[in-house]
Amino acid sequence: MSDRVLVANGGRSMEREISLRSGRRAASALEELGFAVETVDPDQRFVHLVTELRPAFVLIAMHGRGGEDGTLQDLLEILDVPYTGSDVHASARCLDKHAFKEMLRAESLMTPPWHSFNREAFTEFGAGETLGALTGQLGFPLVVKPAREGSSLGIKVVHSSDEFATAVLGAFNYDDRVVIERFIAGRELAVTVLGPAEDPRVLPVVEILTDEPYYTFTAHYETGAATLKVADLGKEEREQVHAAARGAYTLAGCRDLARVDIILDSSGPQILEVNTVPGLVETGPTPFAADAAGMEFNQLIAELVKRVRSER
Ligand SMILES: Nc1ncnc2c1ncn2[C@@H]1O[C@H](COP(=O)(O)OP(=O)(O)OP(=O)(O)O)[C@@H](O)[C@H]1O
Ligand SMILES: [Mg+2]
Repeated sequence: MSDRVLVANGGRSMEREISLRSGRRAASALEELGFAVETVDPDQRFVHLVTELRPAFVLIAMHGRGGEDGTLQDLLEILDVPYTGSDVHASARCLDKHAFKEMLRAESLMTPPWHSFNREAFTEFGAGETLGALTGQLGFPLVVKPAREGSSLGIKVVHSSDEFATAVLGAFNYDDRVVIERFIAGRELAVTVLGPAEDPRVLPVVEILTDEPYYTFTAHYETGAATLKVADLGKEEREQVHAAARGAYTLAGCRDLARVDIILDSSGPQILEVNTVPGLVETGPTPFAADAAGMEFNQLIAELVKRVRSER
C-alpha cells in the first residue's frame, strides 16, 4: 500500500488563495510520485485529523501566518509527525521582517536600512510625526510594509509626506507592526535555496522584471505581469548574491527549501527577507529556479520528500 501523506493548504492568512494553488500543485506532484494524498485546510479538527490519519509526513504549503510562522509546525512537533520545511524556530524568525532584519544586521549581512514601530506607538504616542526623522535618515521614497505578511500585501512605496499616514494605516490593516525601509532602486532577485542550514544549495538566481512600480501582488500572480529570467550576473556579483542568500538561510536556520528575496544595487545584494514556504504557483520564482536547474516540478517536490524522510 502506498504511504499516506497530508498536504496542508489554505488557512486564514491573506495569502490563502495562493496557498490553495500551491497546495494543489504539490498534491498532484505527490500523487504522481506514488503517494496516497489527503489535503487539509487546517481548522479546529486539524489535530484530530492528523492523529487519525497518522500520515508519513505533512507537506506544509501555507503562506503567511498559521503555516509559515511555526504555528502548525508546533502542533506537528507535539504529535511527532514529520513535516516539510523549516522548523518552528526558523519559521518564526523569518516571518517577522523586523526581527529578522535585526539578526541580519547583527551578522553584518546587508539589508536596507529601516525603522519599525507598532500600532500603539502610532495610536497612542504620535508615531505619525516621525516622518521628518525617518526621511532624514532613510530619504524618499520609503517602503512601508507590515512586519509579518507576504505577497506584497499592505506594501506602499511612499514618495512624499502626504502619502505617509495612509501607507502606515494601510499596513496596520495587515499587522500590528510596520517596517519602514529605504527604497532600494536595483535589480530584483529571488534566490531559491535547498537543503540543510549547514550545507545549503543555491538554485539559479532568478531576476524579476516587471512594468509595475515594484514586485506587486499583481506582478506576483498574474500571468504576464512579470517576466522571470535567470539573472545574468558577473562572477563577483553572483558570488556575492549566493553568499548573501546562503548567509541568510543559514542564519535563520532554515531547512529543505526557502526563497531569499534580494535587491541588488551598486553597493551589493541587500536582503529583503526569507520566505520559508515559498509559493509553488506556476508564475513563481521557485518553480522557475528549479526548472532552470533542470528539475521538473515533481523533482522539486521529490527533493522535499527525500529530506523529510531522511532527516527528521
Ligand atoms: N526596500 C525596498 N526597496 C525596493 N523595493 C522593495 C523594498 N522592499 C520591498 N520592495 C518591493 O516589494 C516587494 C515585496 O517586498 P517583501 O519581499 O519585503 O515583502 P513580502 O510581501 O513578504 O513579499 P513576498 O511576496 O515575497 O512574500 C519586493 O519584492 C520588492 O519588489
Ligand atoms: Mg518578498
